[in-house]
Amino acid sequence: MDIITDIADMQSRSLAARESGKRIAFVPTMGFLHEGHASLLREGRKRGDILVLSIFVNPTQFGPNEDLDRYPRDFARDEAIASAAGVDWIFYPTADTVYPPGYSTYVDVEGGLATVLEGACRPGHFRGVATVVAKLFLSVQPHVAFFGQKDFQQLAVIRRMTQDLNLPVEIVGMPIVREADGLAMSSRNVYLAPDERRQALAIIGALRLAGQAAREGECSPRKLLLLAEGCLHREPDLQIEYVTIRHQATLQETATIDADAVMLIAVRIGKTRLIDNAMLLAKA
Ligand code: PAJ
Repeated sequence: MDIITDIADMQSRSLAARESGKRIAFVPTMGFLHEGHASLLREGRKRGDILVLSIFVNPTQFGPNEDLDRYPRDFARDEAIASAAGVDWIFYPTADTVYPPGYSTYVDVEGGLATVLEGACRPGHFRGVATVVAKLFLSVQPHVAFFGQKDFQQLAVIRRMTQDLNLPVEIVGMPIVREADGLAMSSRNVYLAPDERRQALAIIGALRLAGQAAREGECSPRKLLLLAEGCLHREPDLQIEYVTIRHQATLQETATIDADAVMLIAVRIGKTRLIDNAMLLAKA
């Protein structure tokens, strides 16, 4: 497994691999890998000849009061997980390499998709995400790239950007990987104190309760939201940022529940911000 820190080096290796007919599969991450990332890597391993993982804690997608400085990092552990998953190359650039002095070009996804929900709670977040993903695509030159549905809106924004900029990359969305008790895996889960970790289970509790009611025939979004909110309100340290039901393609509110309806939740527990989602009519 090679570790590549230089962008020109990354590009020339990828171009050489492409010229020799190899298919490049790519999994972009911010590191501190867990089983969710590993599931993306395993799928990438199956669908490419060369599997590239990037590890880059991207400063432009963090707001001024967010957790950039304390975002968890453990390169040695990530390397071991990557090697076990069959990664060929880890692209591991520094912030100065990606954003050298004088850097001034950004990708802005406008319109409803990027300005609602996470875009509203975290101004500038998707500008940072779209910019770095475009730059990572141009560095790694993948044929196919894998993203988790855990970050449902991010996946939608990246699909939009890839289509709008005619980037020749197939985008594959992958299911949410959860802990045994249902908490969605996230690098940020390490921030949770034991009691906060327990309270965080209200998120999956809310998604399951609403999903069950929807599958039993409840088709009023308002009633499903009340059920979910009731579940979240029972935890004293959990603050709701949003609980909402949206149309999966547009992320606009839905009037009724159909196969396209997704419930999205963002909460704060203490200093930790967590997001999760579920398709309401999907099998439990
Ligand atoms: P990061 O949070 O490290 O996530 C990397 C990828 O792993 C994303 O596509 C994310 O959706 C996926 N992922 C995270 N938790 C998951 C889970 N429990 N199940 C399945 N997939 C999961 O998302 C980012 O990094 C960054 O925004 C990035 C796209 C790398 C741009 O900087």
